[in-house]
Amino acid sequence: MLLSFSCCGLLVTFVTGWNNETDRLALLEFKAKITDDPLQVMSSWNDSIHFCQWRGVTCGHRHQRVTVLNLPSSKLVGSISPHIGNLSFLRQITLQNNSLHNEIPLENGYLHRLQVLRLNHNSISGKIPSNLSSCANLKTLLVTYNLLTGEIPAALGTLSKLQYFFIVNNKMIGGIPPSFENLSSLDAFVAFDNNLGGIIPTFFGQLTKLTLFSVLGNRFSGTIPPSISNLSSLILFDIADNQIQGHLPSYIDTTLQNMEEFIIANNQFTGSIPLAIYNASNLGIFQLSLNELSGKVHSLEKLNRISSFLISVNNFGNGGENDLSFLCSLTNSTYLNELEISFNNSGGELPKCIGNFSTTIIYLTLDNNKIYGKIPIEIGNMINLERLSMWNNKLSGNIPSEIGLLQKLIVLELHANNFFGNIPSSLGNLTVLMNLYLLDNNLDGNIPLSLSKCKELFSLSLANNSLNGSISPQVIALSFSTTFLDLSANQFTGALPMEIGNFKNLEYLDISENKFFGKIPTSLGSCVKLETLAMSENLFQGIVPFSLESLRGLENLDLSNNNLSGQIPKFLELFVYLQFLNLSYNNFEGEVPTVGVFKNGSATFVKGNSKLCGGIPKFQLPKCKYQKSKKRKLTLTFKLILSISSGLLGVTLVLSLLFLSSLRKKRKENTSSDLVNLLLNLSYQNLLKATDGFSSTNLIGMGNFGSVYKGILDQGRGRHTIAVKVLNLLHHGASKSFMAECEALQSIRHRNIAKVLHHVLVLTIKRLDIAIDVANALDYLHHHCHTPIIHCDLKPSNVLLDDEMVGHVGDFGLARLLFDATQDCSIHQSSSIGVRGTIGYTPPEYGLGNNLSTYGDIYSYGILLLEMFTGKRPIDDIFQDNLNLHDFVKAVLPEQIIDIIDPILLSVHEREGETRTNNITRNEG
Ligand SMILES: *[C@@H]1O[C@H](CO)[C@@H](O)[C@H](O)[C@H]1NC(C)=O
Ligand SMILES: *[C@@H]1O[C@H](CO)[C@@H](O)[C@H](O)[C@H]1NC(C)=O
Ligand SMILES: *[C@@H]1O[C@H](CO)[C@@H](O)[C@H](O)[C@H]1NC(C)=O
Ligand SMILES: *[C@@H]1O[C@H](CO)[C@@H](O)[C@H](O)[C@H]1NC(C)=O
Ligand SMILES: *[C@@H]1O[C@H](CO)[C@@H](O)[C@H](O)[C@H]1NC(C)=O
Ligand SMILES: *[C@@H]1O[C@H](CO)[C@@H](O)[C@H](O)[C@H]1NC(C)=O
Ligand SMILES: *[C@@H]1O[C@H](CO)[C@@H](O)[C@H](O)[C@H]1NC(C)=O
Repeated sequence: MLLSFSCCGLLVTFVTGWNNETDRLALLEFKAKITDDPLQVMSSWNDSIHFCQWRGVTCGHRHQRVTVLNLPSSKLVGSISPHIGNLSFLRQITLQNNSLHNEIPLENGYLHRLQVLRLNHNSISGKIPSNLSSCANLKTLLVTYNLLTGEIPAALGTLSKLQYFFIVNNKMIGGIPPSFENLSSLDAFVAFDNNLGGIIPTFFGQLTKLTLFSVLGNRFSGTIPPSISNLSSLILFDIADNQIQGHLPSYIDTTLQNMEEFIIANNQFTGSIPLAIYNASNLGIFQLSLNELSGKVHSLEKLNRISSFLISVNNFGNGGENDLSFLCSLTNSTYLNELEISFNNSGGELPKCIGNFSTTIIYLTLDNNKIYGKIPIEIGNMINLERLSMWNNKLSGNIPSEIGLLQKLIVLELHANNFFGNIPSSLGNLTVLMNLYLLDNNLDGNIPLSLSKCKELFSLSLANNSLNGSISPQVIALSFSTTFLDLSANQFTGALPMEIGNFKNLEYLDISENKFFGKIPTSLGSCVKLETLAMSENLFQGIVPFSLESLRGLENLDLSNNNLSGQIPKFLELFVYLQFLNLSYNNFEGEVPTVGVFKNGSATFVKGNSKLCGGIPKFQLPKCKYQKSKKRKLTLTFKLILSISSGLLGVTLVLSLLFLSSLRKKRKENTSSDLVNLLLNLSYQNLLKATDGFSSTNLIGMGNFGSVYKGILDQGRGRHTIAVKVLNLLHHGASKSFMAECEALQSIRHRNIAKVLHHVLVLTIKRLDIAIDVANALDYLHHHCHTPIIHCDLKPSNVLLDDEMVGHVGDFGLARLLFDATQDCSIHQSSSIGVRGTIGYTPPEYGLGNNLSTYGDIYSYGILLLEMFTGKRPIDDIFQDNLNLHDFVKAVLPEQIIDIIDPILLSVHEREGETRTNNITRNEG
């Protein structure tokens, strides 16, 4: 008896044990597929506690089986293990908002008890498995914001308990399967932002429990099935951004009974608004914009919950007097937020009743209609308005000063009307205003001084009015944010104030067609973000100031029809973005350049300058009389130095160009003379081409004084890799640094003094070789040059690697010849030439005012070595207070050196351990 009992007991234990053991194993499998758990949410998933107590796991009381797996928003990375399918008591899986990828495991099909599957906001791909259809109890399928593809499986039509179907924002294709007809419990079908198509099936009219239907942003076509008039529970109906056409069904009173959001924008609907809409007393959001609807808008007085009424871009109204009378029916709508009727055919005056609108209104757009008359002063009551757009109507009268009461206004667009009178000074009270467009009216008077209080003004256009007076410095002085300023086609006069230079963010400036006179202020050169500068048809005189040389981003420059004189500025050749240059009808003289924008006869205009010569033939100018000097072929502005592996020369040119390496396979002597020829003939255009227009992909380094680009010279007998250094001459001291570089390079040549080129990005197994290369280079500089040279700025970014991973020391910007070594590159005197050695690499004694010496370079070299083998930079965050890289290394010598070696070096050894000889490993270790 006893025996049989215990036997029985054993059996029972075994059976249940096997079951709950299955759950434990399945959970461990689940954990095993999670590759990253930064929040350590699964740290409790270990054998020290029962799995039912693991975080995110809930078990049933009786059987100790997992019923809920709940780990949302936990930053989990990995995939979902198919073993999750063995958790056969699961009712809920909620893993939303993690970084899970791969597919939804098919085995979920075993989960007969599953009711809730929430996988939204992950990166799950593949298809929705048809096997889910065997989860016959599924109520919620929420897989929004993933990368799911394929069609909606027809098999899901058997899920008769399915209530919530959310597949928003995936890449699903195909139509809505006919089998969905059977989803009699369906409450929400929400599928926006996919690539679904086909028609909206008629059977939706049978799914009478439906409250949410959204297919926004798909490719549905056809018409709205009339059967939707059966759906009395609908709260949301959103089919915007599809290609649905036809009339809106007229018998939709029932449908609209509970409707809160009715959104059909951006389709191809025609006809008028169905009358039933006007009784939809729960309607909050009604958006019909971007269709071809027409007719009259009737009284909306019953829509007293309306917050968003958008009918822009249709054909509402007949241009007649009463088109806007419906506006007065909105005065009891205390939720009104947005009212947009732009781009319609509405005529009539703007009724005063708009002053009785609820102050909840934020957007009011009436632009591009046929509205006439004055803006009622009652507009000042809409104190929460952020956007008021009335442009392109037939409004007239003064701009009411009451607009100044709308202190939250961000956008004010009144352009292209017939407003006259002054710009009201109250606009200065709109302190958060960003866009002010008053162009194309008949405004006169001055720009009110108060506008300078609009500190956020980003975009201001007053063009094409009759404004006059001079531009006071005060107006301009404060507008730091302005990026767009258009004052063209007015009667402004006086000088352009030099405060224009305060517009540091200006990208577009048009002051053409006014009566400005005097010189172009040099301060304009401070507006370095300018892309368009239009000053034509004024009375400007004098030369184009050299300061404009800094406007390198210019795309359009129009100086035509002024009295400007002097030479055409050479620096315009360098403006690589310039697409339009109009210098016509001035008094420019001398030679028209032929490179850069000047090469392009359809981009450059120089007509009407009688003293010009040269240029491309298209300009049909006389030949220049004087002898072109050889230098003139190149641009004179800057200096160039070229250094090649076997010879040096310095010439003047556009840019400074450094360090050149020849094609490896060529014979050395030939290469050298080829290169000399090549370099002698190098133009700015060549450099432009070689560096792909100084493209950022070729940018290999950037420093205080300029940038270094890699380039390929494809000329003559071969390709040569070069490095081009572009000096930033705005930087005080740049030219001095440049001269130091020239001087240093003129007296040295060595295989490990930079040829070229790959910035030091990865230092792996070759680190020892590179370290030796750098040592050789230093040895050469210090001991084998005619005059010893101190580099002064040795650091990893000044070590360049060539194709064969040979290290080269570069950047002699701070180099000093020892005989005249001063303290110029010591830290405390940095201001004198605007440079310093690099903190962390410069020897401490330089900071104390000691003279430069070769020992300083050796110190820097030591730091460089430590960095190469620890992977830590001397300026890393960990080196603060009293800890520095030097002491950090010293502390572990000699026993624990392994602790501080750059892990990359160790892992390289691990990986290559077998193939590489122990010798190397031991050496490097
Ligand atoms: C499995 O369930 C049995 C009976 O409830 C229990 O005694 C046993 O400890 C459980 N084992 C695990 C691993 O949960
Ligand atoms: C899940 O069940 C399958 C089939 O019954 C089995 O092969 C697998 O080992 C189980 N996995 C775990 C973790 O128990
Ligand atoms: C196992 O989980 C317990 C409970 O959360 C935790 O205190 C312990 O540190 C975990 N053990 C390990 C090795 O992670
Ligand atoms: C998603 O998870 C992150 C933390 O992982 C959390 O900050 C964020 O609020 C979550 N988002 C949602 C929509 O739950
Ligand atoms: C799941 O689907 C696969 C094929 O797609 C099938 O082999 C498997 O039997 C299905 N499993 C269940 C539980 O339906
Ligand atoms: C606004 O409500 C008042 C009071 O209920 C009513 O007398 C008036 O007619 C309503 N006005 C509009 C335009 O609906
Ligand atoms: C600006 O607003 C203040 C109140 O905020 C008002 O007193 C002043 O008159 C307004 N200024 C103008 C020019 O309208």
